Amino acid sequence: MNFSIPTIKKMLVVTLATSALALATLLSTPSQATAVFDETSTLYKSKCSSCHGMDGKGATAKGKELKVRAFSSAEVKGMSDQKLLDVILKGKGKMEGYEKTLGKEKAQALVAYCRNLGK
Ligand code: HEC
Repeated sequence: MNFSIPTIKKMLVVTLATSALALATLLSTPSQATAVFDETSTLYKSKCSSCHGMDGKGATAKGKELKVRAFSSAEVKGMSDQKLLDVILKGKGKMEGYEKTLGKEKAQALVAYCRNLGK
């Protein structure tokens, strides 16, 4: 291997440009946490918001009919995460359980999502 100085310079420029591009791609890729959050909010929107409302206040027509509590209410705040997870997995009263359709991991992410709405 016997590179001339201009060739080495050219190679250096190409290498630098490639790494800059790779870095830019890396930085613009959403983190995994963001991806999970997006998936959870989509799930919430499609499966839960009809009763609980996008804001978690339960102020939808169906929510009012079924007397859904706001996630921000003292009652829900007083329930443990485990209790909320149980309700999502097994269902309670007029709410069906989602263990079979969603599985535990997604239900757990939804607990965090509901807590966040209740803040
Ligand atoms: C058909 C309407 C309906 C849908 C759809 C629904 N829920 Fe519920 N949810 C309820 C009702 C009603 C309760 C209260 C049950 C009770 O105490 O008898 C409840 C209770 C809860 C609770 C426990 C807190 C509380 O107020 O008792 C959580 C957490 C919850 N739901 C989350 C979810 C999530 C997450 C989804 C979507 C995967 C969902 N719900 C879908 C009606 C619904």
